Amino acid sequence: MLVVIHPSREDASIQAAKIVADQVRRKLDSVLGLSTGSTPLAMYAELIRLNRDERLDFSDVKTFNLDEYFGISSEHPQSFHRHIHENLIDHINVKPENAHIPDGSTTDFAKTCTEYEAAIRDAGGIDLQILGIGRTGHIGFNEPTSSLVSRTRLKTLSDETIYDNSKISGDIPTVAITMGIGTILETRKILLLAFGAAKADAVAKAIEGPIASSTSASALQMHPDVTFLLDEAAAAKLTHRAYYDRVIEQTKKYSPQLLGLSND
Ligand code: PGA
Repeated sequence: MLVVIHPSREDASIQAAKIVADQVRRKLDSVLGLSTGSTPLAMYAELIRLNRDERLDFSDVKTFNLDEYFGISSEHPQSFHRHIHENLIDHINVKPENAHIPDGSTTDFAKTCTEYEAAIRDAGGIDLQILGIGRTGHIGFNEPTSSLVSRTRLKTLSDETIYDNSKISGDIPTVAITMGIGTILETRKILLLAFGAAKADAVAKAIEGPIASSTSASALQMHPDVTFLLDEAAAAKLTHRAYYDRVIEQTKKYSPQLLGLSND
């Protein structure tokens, strides 16, 4: 795992956008896994700028969102469908038919989940997955006790997640469709962004704790290509900071492409 600690969320978001841009430039028909919430917003803003000002081309890119609230329509103001369209998809040249989000209004969720997994497979699998992390250590909506080999399915949200997400969006559904941890672990490269002191415990458990279903993000320790992009506050509870910084210095020297620095 690479742990990159930036002075601010803005700096981390710029680097995240660079890594995504590098992926899209190297493989024009990249498949991107997208997340919602407040964490990726500055990164999406930078991707929109790169698309507009530097002709970063998404015309052959496919996207798959991690999750969606269950029981609401795609047009509902709280839907992740709306969120990702308003904050990214509608502002770049991704073809609408290539932007996939689980259908939260489905009446047959088992079929919807199976078809979502099949659509990811048919697209050739996800090349680069963007993740946030919840205070519970969740990735996607894989709350504590989620199976570490879970697939896309219906998941009950934890009290902490309902509280955190309601603060931002008002009353939210308490059940969601989410890619599973097994689905996420099959993606080829993962970027996890975490900002702010509220995420510090979850980040420390994910990176330094044992692999355990009590912190879903700890399963990322089993993935061969994960980069954590953190601000100082989210990194505050890590105990091997100096070592992570040395790893990043060495990575910049020998494998800069892992950090989106190949064109620098
Ligand atoms: P946030 O949510 O970006 O709104 O903090 C992250 C998450 O719950 O995964």
